[in-house]
Amino acid sequence: MSTGILDYTTDLREYLWEKGMEEHPALTELRLETAKLPQSMMQICPEQGALMANLIRLMSAKKTLEIGTFTGYSALSVALALPEDGELIACDISEEWTAMGQKKWEQAGVSHKINLKLGPAVDTLDSLLKEGQQGYFDFAFIDADKANYPAYYEKCLKLLRKGGVIAIDNVLWGGSVIDSKRNDEDTKAIRELNDFIRNDKRVSISMVPIGDGLTLAFIN
Ligand SMILES: C[S@@+](CC[C@H](N)C(=O)[O-])C[C@H]1O[C@@H](n2cnc3c(N)ncnc32)[C@H](O)[C@@H]1O
Repeated sequence: MSTGILDYTTDLREYLWEKGMEEHPALTELRLETAKLPQSMMQICPEQGALMANLIRLMSAKKTLEIGTFTGYSALSVALALPEDGELIACDISEEWTAMGQKKWEQAGVSHKINLKLGPAVDTLDSLLKEGQQGYFDFAFIDADKANYPAYYEKCLKLLRKGGVIAIDNVLWGGSVIDSKRNDEDTKAIRELNDFIRNDKRVSISMVPIGDGLTLAFIN
């Protein structure tokens, strides 16, 4: 077997971006605009967007959820891969950041597929459950406040169908998950969720070392 993860040098990453994926021009523009913000590191990397988009295609997903939209890069990646009658419910609390995404979604011709819900994501997911949308969704992407990850995970498990996929971002948390000196609330929340999901018989998982670590939980 291969024995390690390659050193991900800038040159190798550029090669990967050039040969390993195709970034839609609207995604490139949005990435470059987002890069000007001090919070730009919150955005997922292009190769992760491409992976999630291909997962959407593989699953023929139509109904999708996103928890944590920021400037809209992951939402645009998913929406471009959805069919014309597909839907993404995108949850965030920031009007300012999501407004950047909305502009780009319109320019890319996919805004009709994205339903932005501004407000705490726990409330939005609870509303969907109250409306009777259990088992309705195919795919969910969790990428917001870490303390609420366990709540998002449980609610997504209810909202997704069997065979659906929950993608959970930042599961390696910059390597802090294995640093015993890091015991802040966010690190603890991610570690605990990783431990919990590892033993959760409701899902089969792959923790993928892409970006800041992405767990794909396939619902049994
Ligand atoms: C890491 S960023 C999301 C990045 C995005 N997925 C992308 O690809 O660019 C996290 C987002 O979660 C949002 N957020 C934080 N707390 C939230 C909450 N309680 N409910 C909904 N969104 C929240 C923040 O406003 C921020 O935009």
